[in-house]
Amino acid sequence: MTLQEQQALEDAYVMATFARKPVEFVRGEGMRLYDDRGAEYLDCLSGIGVVSLGHCAPPVVAAVQAQAAELLHVSNYYYIEHRGQVARLLSELLNAGAPGGAAPWKTFFANSGAEANECAIKLARLHGRRRAEAAGRPGGEAPRLIVTLEGSFHGRTLATLAATAQPAKQEAFQPLPEGFAATPPNDVAALEALFAERGAEVCAVMVECIQGESGVHPCTAEFLQAARRLTAERGALLICDEVQCGCFRTGEPFGFQLFGVRPDVVAIAKGVAGGFPMGACAACGEAAEVLAPGDHGSTFGGSNLAMAAAQATLSALAAPGFADQVREVGAYLRERLAALPGVAQVRGHGLMVGADLAEGAPAAPDVVAAALEAGLVLNATGPRTLRFLPPLICAKEDVDCLVERLAPLLVA
Ligand SMILES: Cc1ncc(COP(=O)(O)O)c(C=O)c1O
Repeated sequence: MTLQEQQALEDAYVMATFARKPVEFVRGEGMRLYDDRGAEYLDCLSGIGVVSLGHCAPPVVAAVQAQAAELLHVSNYYYIEHRGQVARLLSELLNAGAPGGAAPWKTFFANSGAEANECAIKLARLHGRRRAEAAGRPGGEAPRLIVTLEGSFHGRTLATLAATAQPAKQEAFQPLPEGFAATPPNDVAALEALFAERGAEVCAVMVECIQGESGVHPCTAEFLQAARRLTAERGALLICDEVQCGCFRTGEPFGFQLFGVRPDVVAIAKGVAGGFPMGACAACGEAAEVLAPGDHGSTFGGSNLAMAAAQATLSALAAPGFADQVREVGAYLRERLAALPGVAQVRGHGLMVGADLAEGAPAAPDVVAAALEAGLVLNATGPRTLRFLPPLICAKEDVDCLVERLAPLLVA
């Protein structure tokens, strides 16, 4: 089937939720994608931060193929091969750098980032309720407010859209679930004022330590530490949405580890299973014990196939030297981008990088379109911002190839 025929079919039968680019990728290997005509592309987006070990990474392919031949799915009524190992590995990675004896994390398995955040939101509400009950207050008086950050992105379900503090995305879908209040990122005084006024209502603060969809904007350590202090003072939870910045994307196992904070709850998805759909909500300490049978669930979450893919992916990501390589290549990428004419500012950690284009340079969406024709898969998060989320196997030679293909496109 030609690209034109595929386009016509999708136009007729697939909902238009994405403005699709005119290309159909049919094969991938490592950092490279190939379209239906055999043309080669360097992938600097990795399926929006998903294909963490590159396309068709041999350990992931082998694990999925072997598992598919044994058992695809049985449901959460039963124990699942690999699931305990994956949860233990996540716990070890979440505790990396924490003092010895740090409490283990327990994980709920879901299928996407939005579902991981839904679980975190329900867990925070139930935690608030249990604490109120333990203090002899009726459940109806429990703290229910979840503080989020302006410009955040937590997903497209109704509750995660309510947590996504972007009025333009929310407007058409009102009424959204109540009980969310947004505060400006990195404004400690505003956060303190919110807690001074409504602290007794707060059951959680929910943050992306590095906002991804808004264009790769890291929080400051000072702000995240204030969020940790204020939540701890009130017995509320700190939730880190690590859907985009987790799983070694920043060169640390999880993004929060860059900022000297330890959250109670973490949402995980995207790169965790190397391309297989999976989400996870992990919690430690008191928060790990909140959800009981009947409180939450998923038919597909934590399936045999997802666990096999996650175990293969996480084991490869956690191998000695892998994170060092992500940090080193990420620093090289930022350095090379910053030196390009037309680039005004470069931000990020590891291989999660945003570049603002200077006034006078072409608009970012135009650069993305031209890049596709030049064999480069890129992404724009706004009219002037390019976002780079390459597979984490990206090497310096790949960065050189990216820069070579990108540089001519930045000249107006
Ligand atoms: C930080 C963050 N949270 C949640 C989500 C939603 O994840 P999903 O699309 O898998 O539901 C995204 C997706 O981009 C994200 O970047």
